[in-house]
Amino acid sequence: MAQYTRVSGSVGLISLRNPPVNALSSVVRQGIVDTVKRALSDPEVKSVVICGHNGIFCGGADIKEFGTTMSGPPLVPMIHAVEAADKPVVAAIEGLALGGGLELALGCHYRIAHSKARLGLPEVSLGLLPAAGGTQRLPRLIGVPAALDLITTGRHITAAEALTLGIVDQVTDQNTVDAAVKFALSVAEQSLDARRISTNPCPRPSDLDALFEGVMQKVRQTARGAIAPVACVQAVRAAATLPYTQGMEREQELMATLFNSGQARALQYCFFAQRAVGRWSMPSGARWDTSKPRPIRKAAVIGLGTMGRGITVALAQTGLFVVAVETQEKQLMEAKQAVSGMLERGAKRRGVAPVLNLVSYSSNLQAVADADLVIEAVFEDMALKKKVFQQLSAVCKPGTFLCTNTSALDIDHLASQTRSPELVVGMHFFAPAHVMKLLEVVYGPRSSPEAVATAMHLGKKMGKVSVAVGNCRGFVGNRMLKPYLEQAFFLLEEGATPELVDQALEEFGFAMGVFRMSDLSGLDVGSKIRKASGQPASNRVQQGHRYSPLGDLLCEQGRFGQKTGRGWYQYDKPGSQVARSDPWVHCFLEEYRARHGLVARRIDHQEVLERCLYSLINEGFRILEDGIAAGPGDIDAIYVFGYGWPRYRGGPMFYAGMVGLERVLERLEHYHQAHPDVPYLQPCGLLRRLVASGSPPIHKWSEVIRKVHSQL
Ligand code: COA
Ligand code: ADP
Repeated sequence: MAQYTRVSGSVGLISLRNPPVNALSSVVRQGIVDTVKRALSDPEVKSVVICGHNGIFCGGADIKEFGTTMSGPPLVPMIHAVEAADKPVVAAIEGLALGGGLELALGCHYRIAHSKARLGLPEVSLGLLPAAGGTQRLPRLIGVPAALDLITTGRHITAAEALTLGIVDQVTDQNTVDAAVKFALSVAEQSLDARRISTNPCPRPSDLDALFEGVMQKVRQTARGAIAPVACVQAVRAAATLPYTQGMEREQELMATLFNSGQARALQYCFFAQRAVGRWSMPSGARWDTSKPRPIRKAAVIGLGTMGRGITVALAQTGLFVVAVETQEKQLMEAKQAVSGMLERGAKRRGVAPVLNLVSYSSNLQAVADADLVIEAVFEDMALKKKVFQQLSAVCKPGTFLCTNTSALDIDHLASQTRSPELVVGMHFFAPAHVMKLLEVVYGPRSSPEAVATAMHLGKKMGKVSVAVGNCRGFVGNRMLKPYLEQAFFLLEEGATPELVDQALEEFGFAMGVFRMSDLSGLDVGSKIRKASGQPASNRVQQGHRYSPLGDLLCEQGRFGQKTGRGWYQYDKPGSQVARSDPWVHCFLEEYRARHGLVARRIDHQEVLERCLYSLINEGFRILEDGIAAGPGDIDAIYVFGYGWPRYRGGPMFYAGMVGLERVLERLEHYHQAHPDVPYLQPCGLLRRLVASGSPPIHKWSEVIRKVHSQL
């Protein structure tokens, strides 16, 4: 709703009230329409201030109303009525002015912002565009290039940047509403002609065509198949080339296309999934998020390889004291330099002082004795990790949480090495750990709710999307990745090339195809793990099932990927990132096929996508059936934030729903028949049940999953 009072004698004060972010729900919109009318018809009122309750101006349109039948007054005429007012209207922006909130402010005649406020038009990240006049007013106010930047990226800007760009008229450190009221009094009698942004011409850049062509090319490249950024450019072009009314018509047309697209639905689903995973629960439905996390002041990291260094940086950046332990002196010295460098660069980027003094280094495990929480990141080797956990259990003060950054190993095995298995959880970070948003928090059968709550809370403080997952080989992300990777290898055996597979996946929207990705992360890592688990490198059948030794064979040639300058592709020099097709790999594949009597056949993009993606999705259904993930949204958040799954496709489980569960089931049956020696292609029981239940929408899957669990 919107509250109305008269202050300082002649200022009508309208306060938006819809916690937590004063989103523009139908009730709020109705409130604005009513209170603006009231202020304008009150002869005592000479000017108006619009502010938000509780220190937040407005977080934009109410996303919860999307997809429901529209009720209440629409935004566009509401903002027009504000702009057309014959008394000055001032927006008092505290906290946030995002999306529709900023568009409302642009309809006002003046804008005063608090110095800590953030402004932006983030609709593009929800698959939309600012369709309450934002694409038409912003370029008129700040020029086409700056408007294109804000609208196509959706980035939030500070009040200082907003002032420089000319979005706000004044920035204050004082009480924003008081400053706005004072300002409103001072402009009460002034002409508003020049202040109605929609009536002003849009500055027309001299090189308009070239400008838009350049921006469009760049946007298409970074959008990788997302349609909203492209529509944003088209809408701003309309502002620059058409009169306002026609520009608004174009904005509405483009919005209608976006609004009804699967991409917008997927992106909005991701928005809510990202928030829901923080309110975590057990797969059984029991809620754990009521358990209190224990405060952590001092953390420790054991092992300063790539992961340990990134984790140290991420912990220090949240303001924690960190003890970083590494047994190899040379590695310790290198890590010290690397961590300091990362902290310095990060601080520079964020305009804050580096926190080098929060990190202390040691080669002795005793140094972690008084840490509240320890994260182990030594080599991925069970025997070594067990030893480290035994030592930690002896060295650490009672009550210290012991976490492991393992990407696949059994948490409970590690817990059994300690005096207090309830304090052991997994904290699986993704490389580089100070950058990647995802954290899998793995609970073992004996992990206490308090330990899980503490790890989840710490992850959130570190700015991660933390997802609680159960304990099984590979947890959620890597368990699903295994069939995906294997299918890619099988496709090479059957006639595909790394280029073909990668192209199909990149056109689908992945940042990198599977082979470019394994060149980047290093082929030797997986090969070492496979060897350690006793799998002979050259067999094509293992434990009665099809296996592809292609990755191991490549490693035997010293081709570890980017770091050696050779992998599935060739690189100009070791460390270079520009992958070029390598005829050696093609010959190697031909020889391999000849040696094993395999006849190459033509493979198209559709087969690549179906086999790689549907086998990954099928494993996702198994994970839900096994109760390893609490719901499909948890799996989707993991894939979107940790594995480069295109967000506008919502994550693998959402995508399965978009494709149609019957279709996924039918294709899996088809491929399983063609490859009976690949057991994971057999459609999962849960998928069959969902199809048998009429393929309910994804938010209803939990009912079918619950039934499966209750019968187990
Ligand atoms: N409509 C409806 N609900 C919204 C909302 C909106 N525009 N913006 C935020 N919320 C809700 C969230 O769903 C969350 O609800 P929950 O507590 O039930 O999960 C709550 O407000 C707090 O949001 P959260 O993101 O957890 O808080 P934050 O402080 O980290 O971030 C924002 C606040 C506003 C920056 C962030 O929520 C955001 O980016 N919102 C979307 C803004 C936007 O895109 N507006 C344009 C809409 S077209
Ligand atoms: P990443 O996978 O993070 O790149 P590595 O597995 O290469 O890292 O690195 C693990 C690090 O852990 C190595 O630097 C190694 O010296 C270190 N390490 C191994 N055992 C111990 C131990 N017991 N205590 C501390 N550090 C260890």
